[in-house]
Amino acid sequence: MIFELSQKKPAFFSGDLLIYFIQETKGKTVPCSCKAVRRALKNAWKSGDFTGQQGQTFLFYPSVSTKSPAAYRVLAVGLGKTTEPSAIIEKNALREQIRLAAGTAVQQATACKVKSIMAVLPEKTGLAGQEVAECLTEGLILGCYCFDKYKGKSKGKIDGQEEQVNIESISLQVGTLDMQAVEKGMRQGKRAADAACRARDMANEPGNGWTPIKFAEFAQRLARKHKLSCEVIEKDDMEAMGMGGILGVNQGSAEPPKLVILQYQGGKKKTDPTVMLVGKGLTFDSGGISLKPGLGMEEMKYDMCGGAAVLSAMQAIAQERPRGINVVALVPSTENLPASTALKPGDIITHYNGTTSEIINTDAEGRLILADALAYGIEKYAPDAVIDLATLTGAVIIGLGHHRIGLMATDDTLAEQLLAAGERTGEPLWRLPLGPEYSKQIKSQIADIKNTGGKSAGTITAAAYLQEFVGDTPWAHLDIAGTAWNFTEKSYIPKGPSGIAVRTLVDLIRHWQGKKKPHTKNLRAGHREQP
Ligand code: BES
Ligand code: MN
Ligand code: ZN
Repeated sequence: MIFELSQKKPAFFSGDLLIYFIQETKGKTVPCSCKAVRRALKNAWKSGDFTGQQGQTFLFYPSVSTKSPAAYRVLAVGLGKTTEPSAIIEKNALREQIRLAAGTAVQQATACKVKSIMAVLPEKTGLAGQEVAECLTEGLILGCYCFDKYKGKSKGKIDGQEEQVNIESISLQVGTLDMQAVEKGMRQGKRAADAACRARDMANEPGNGWTPIKFAEFAQRLARKHKLSCEVIEKDDMEAMGMGGILGVNQGSAEPPKLVILQYQGGKKKTDPTVMLVGKGLTFDSGGISLKPGLGMEEMKYDMCGGAAVLSAMQAIAQERPRGINVVALVPSTENLPASTALKPGDIITHYNGTTSEIINTDAEGRLILADALAYGIEKYAPDAVIDLATLTGAVIIGLGHHRIGLMATDDTLAEQLLAAGERTGEPLWRLPLGPEYSKQIKSQIADIKNTGGKSAGTITAAAYLQEFVGDTPWAHLDIAGTAWNFTEKSYIPKGPSGIAVRTLVDLIRHWQGKKKPHTKNLRAGHREQP
């Protein structure tokens, strides 16, 4: 799809669809240069059919005359009420309104099977041109996402319905907004949205299509293209290093495990910080010997969404090349399957840092693979902050539904930065506590810890498990089990995987606050003592 900026007058655009975004401005004239469009909208407004309310649309076919726009169709999309934002919260709401309107617009466009679109950037929204362009671009790209790779005979037909036509070109009409700012915003929006769509692609792949090696291949390709460094830790390396968590989960699988590491170096000075991202890359979670019920088990191909988010965010970061910051991403990846070789309840494993763990339930496998990756990554890269993302617990869906990411953190500044990034990107998080009471729930009679903490506070005890492996490095854990698919209903979020957290991570790195802490050698809590 071609995505470009245009300064051509909307009236002269002769493509399939011309889109205007209209604010709910009680009776005020419509901000449109074309008389015919103004008249049509005025009539629609007078009749109450279209008042610019959020989610409202009004599609019409202008008559062929010199006074009409040259486009075949004109679509007006309601932006809702836009007040001059006085607080950040209002600004974030405006950003989301623009994304939602853009999502609604491309839904309509797809329904009409249009190929070429011109979208006029709304002005006087209370947001800077850069932000308008960023959010509009995100909404348009995220909203027209479609995954049809596996449609064979029924290619082009979604849900066995009518034929689908893909949008070929979208041009953003700049109007009187600042061209340079709009261009910057569009680029930012495009990079982040493309990355989120990439994460959706990975997740949409079936378990037999997206195996651990696919994460490795994706990372290697990205590294070659953007000069990042990539390392893949293989099964025999894991054995040599004692990564008992990843190996244990992998025991029942015929696919070899991978620990994929991708490094972006944007910092030149010693004081430049390093942020470490870790994503759960479980390419299929059957539960293992503690087998899951059959109903809905196919959804567990999505159990790699944390890993997908992390590597896709790296794609956007690599394209953007922010200066003064280093980012290292780790994705531990394996399947979790039952077999005569599989891990059993009651088994005891030893993690990379020497911590022993009693396996109570083989379905609590995410924490096992993340624990090794966290301990290893912190030891090797001595990061200034660590963020892990995982579809870790069903319990987070009970607590927060499909509307918010569960956030647990040992560092308030890091938590606040993540909360702010989530609000800016329309991927909200909600913080839950950590504490010794919860850590106590995972103490084992026979080993150091056990991999489940009983019925209560399942999301927090899973985080408490991970906490055992991060030492004193500022750390945040995002439980995306409720949001990685079936995310809250939005015009720009299709059914299936949402690509959640990709844009939050990209935004977080863009707004990163803080230099490297003057820490001496990183102390690794609980690391194996040398005899
Ligand atoms: N991948 C699942 C978590 C999950 C469940 C994600 C439902 C999305 C929807 C994870 O590996 C898991 O099975 N967790 C268990 C933990 C339990 C055994 C302590 C769970 O949440 O049931
Ligand atoms: Mn599981
Ligand atoms: Zn899982």
